[in-house]
Amino acid sequence: MSQSDPRRITLAITGASGAQYGLRLLQCLVAADIQVMLMISKAAQVVIATETDLALPGRPDEQQVCLSQLYGAKSDQIRVFGREQWMAPVASGSGAPSSMVVCPCSTGCLSAIATGASNNLIERAADVALKERRQLILVPREAPYSEIHLEHMLKLTRMGVVVVPASPGFYHRPQSVEDMVDFIVARILNQLGVEQTLLPRWGEGLLSSRD
Ligand SMILES: Cc1cc2nc3c(=O)[nH]c(=O)nc-3n(C[C@H](O)[C@H](O)[C@H](O)COP(=O)(O)O)c2cc1C
Repeated sequence: MSQSDPRRITLAITGASGAQYGLRLLQCLVAADIQVMLMISKAAQVVIATETDLALPGRPDEQQVCLSQLYGAKSDQIRVFGREQWMAPVASGSGAPSSMVVCPCSTGCLSAIATGASNNLIERAADVALKERRQLILVPREAPYSEIHLEHMLKLTRMGVVVVPASPGFYHRPQSVEDMVDFIVARILNQLGVEQTLLPRWGEGLLSSRD
């Protein structure tokens, strides 16, 4: 995998449970002054409506305005692309950022990436990341995993993809859902090389009073 350039990142939010992971990651990337090329699948929009209070509009241009206002992004810091917007920068190796995250990643999207389907812009952007040997981070959420899911994760891991399952730890003694979300988002930011203060690194402030 090539070196990451954390000034521009592609983020796809797909329809696995855990929309909060993707939205919180977006918020943190904006706060870190990173430009985000964002795609939100149709299923993800259903999950967002089910799991959060966010009233996200359906059209990408309206989503861009909505999310930019919500997270205080600069003009064009968040760019939202639709499922068949093939002229978007993420659709080509010459225009795509050097890192892509799919968070959360549905098992359907996992399958499409593992087989190179490229049937929509999210799948195409991931295919570009793979062919260009760029950083690709997937955050699947399913329980239990089938043999198919595990085979896809193994295949992609062997190609250099980083699979960060949405399985928060508890050793930081989470007090809220937000703390559990931040556990996973911190892991992703660490992978991207983006400074984060959501969670101390192991050995730095995480020892319990019993230790
Ligand atoms: C409320 C809700 C929760 C879902 N949770 C999951 C999940 O945790 N994991 C998963 O892989 N799919 C889940 N799905 C199913 C996916 O959304 C579905 O397979 C969809 O086709 C994925 O499409 P996408 O990859 O284009 O987002 C969920 C769907 C809904 C509506």
